[in-house]
Formats: sequence, C-alpha cells, structure tokens
Amino acid sequence: MEDAYRGIAWIYDRLFEKLNLGLRLAGLRAFRPARGMNILEVGCGTGAFLSQYQRYGCGLYGVDLSPSMLAQAHARLGAAGRLLQGDAAHLPYARQQFDLATAMLCLHEMSPAARSAVMAEMKRVLKPNGRILLIDFQPGPYQPLQGWIARALIFLIEFNAGGEHFKNYRQFMPAGGLPGLAAQQALVIEKQYLLAGGAFAVLLARPGPPG
Ligand SMILES: C[S@@+](CC[C@H](N)C(=O)[O-])C[C@H]1O[C@@H](n2cnc3c(N)ncnc32)[C@H](O)[C@@H]1O
Repeated sequence: MEDAYRGIAWIYDRLFEKLNLGLRLAGLRAFRPARGMNILEVGCGTGAFLSQYQRYGCGLYGVDLSPSMLAQAHARLGAAGRLLQGDAAHLPYARQQFDLATAMLCLHEMSPAARSAVMAEMKRVLKPNGRILLIDFQPGPYQPLQGWIARALIFLIEFNAGGEHFKNYRQFMPAGGLPGLAAQQALVIEKQYLLAGGAFAVLLARPGPPG
C-alpha cells in the first residue's frame, strides 16, 4: 500500500509539532495518566502525542499505516514505544488491554466505514473502565477571528492533502465532526474542550451501554 505520508513525514514535526501543542496538552488535561497505565494511540504518526505519557511511566502503544511516520516515532520514543505498522481498523491486540485509546487528527481522513471500524476496535481493546480520547477538527460554530482563521488554515491543509483524504474530511465536517461521531458510536462524553476559536475539539468519552 502507498505511504500517503512519505513526502511529509521527515518535516511533519517541524511543521505541526508546535502548532498542535495546545491540543496535546488539552488531551493530557482531559485524561490524567497514572503509572503503569497502557495507552494506545491509533494513527500515532510521529509519536508526539504518545511521548507526553512517557514521563508518567505508561506503556506506550502506537499503530499507524505509514512506515515513514512510524520511523519518526521510533526515533522519538526508542525502546519505550511499542509501535506497529498496520490499519487501525484491525488492531492486533486482544480485547480489554488499554486504559486509554486515543486518536488525534486521524479520524477525519478516514472513510466513514473505516472510521466506524476503527472506533469499534478502540472500544474492543479498552479495559472495562477505560476511556476514549478523541482530538480532531470541529465543524463550528467558529469564533471571530481566531476560529475563522484556524478553519481557513485547516481547509487549505486538507485541500492540499487532496484525494481520498480531502474527500473524507469533506464528509467528516458536515456529519458533525467528533460530536457527530460520538453520537453515532453511542459514546458517553465526559469532557469536551473546544480550542482555536472552535476549530478543534478534544473529547473524553467512555463507551455507552451495549444496545
Ligand atoms: C495527521 S496525522 C496525525 C498523527 C498524530 N496522531 C498527530 O496528531 O501528530 C494522521 C495519521 O493517521 C494515520 N492513519 C490514517 N488512517 C489510518 C488507519 N486506518 N490506521 C492507522 N493509521 C492511520 C496516518 O498514517 C497518519 O500518520
């Protein structure tokens, strides 16, 4: 399979690491880790989000489609990162393994079917008292001017990504972004932060009762 991030992986952190710091810190605020917890990030990219949990003595697990993004994550996390190349729609873990399953800035680029499959897998590998942390674009309402500017920048970045990625982003937004996905997946939202004038959402949730 083609590595969609091959051309950008080497410079991804220089472009986005500082820009996304506020999102990562909001994620850390939403879910406070404890020593020994197992954290899984699907679509872990260069490992920037996982690396936050390193100093808390957590088990750091990451899955990503892109070998070039994973190479950056390996360089960052070293032996602490248990990283696998693969599709998060088919997680290679037994059920009930993780205290936290997280997805940051990757669900918007998946097709609706892939998104549902990935969410089902995140729920499957979650411990009974585990939590799901989602960070992604929010389809408004946007605050002037910060939200409008952030929204315009996001649109340009997504347009530039092109192809299926852009098409999926264009489906994700009118479908309600993360709140829409949480409703579709019957997640119980426990915390929700909006950032950058409403252009990003951070949701902490737990699976709702089966039904
Ligand atoms: C925009 S990057 C975000 C990376 C990282 N989560 C961050 O916030 O810095 C999206 C990542 O999701 C990965 N990805 C997309 N679809 C995936 C899938 N079905 N399974 C695993 N990884 C996927 C991409 O390869 C890419 O590394």
